[in-house]
Amino acid sequence: MKKVLFVCLGNICRSPLAEGIFRKMVEEAGLQNKIWIDSAGTSSYHIGELPDYRTCQVAEKNGIILSHRARQVRKEDFVEFDYILAADRSNLKHLQNLQNQIPHSKAKLHLMRDWEGKNLEVPDPYYGTMKDFEQGYDLLEKTLKLFLEHLQKELNQTYIVEVEKSNC
Ligand code: 4NP
Repeated sequence: MKKVLFVCLGNICRSPLAEGIFRKMVEEAGLQNKIWIDSAGTSSYHIGELPDYRTCQVAEKNGIILSHRARQVRKEDFVEFDYILAADRSNLKHLQNLQNQIPHSKAKLHLMRDWEGKNLEVPDPYYGTMKDFEQGYDLLEKTLKLFLEHLQKELNQTYIVEVEKSNC
């Protein structure tokens, strides 16, 4: 089992959208029992809220219903999750500072778009227009496909190691 946490500032735009898109991809790949997905925010601004209505609209247009309630990142996340993926460098910095205070952290911290190899961010659409949310959807869909390929390789690797161990 691999556990993945998507993180942005408010946990009402980018990270719940990433969570919804990735969950759909994981289900389509039949990996729902192997990959656990959640999202959170670095801020406390919107705790308990459903995603922004524009996030829900763009998700629904693509067949995804979002029901996540915003929550803030907590220390336990660094012990529980294998991957914590930040939408932008500011959130990544926040996560790195938190991780430095957690001795048993196992989480690998990355930007959501790291698998494109260009140090790119997912722009914050909160003060933008519907077009910004649509562009956010498109780039998340593209980049999360690459991340899923990476995770599938890791899962296969783990499987091979387990089979080899059982043959010893
Ligand atoms: P998110 O977008 O980090 O993608 O959820 C934002 C949501 C709320 C705010 C900023 C960004 N805010 O300032 O309340």
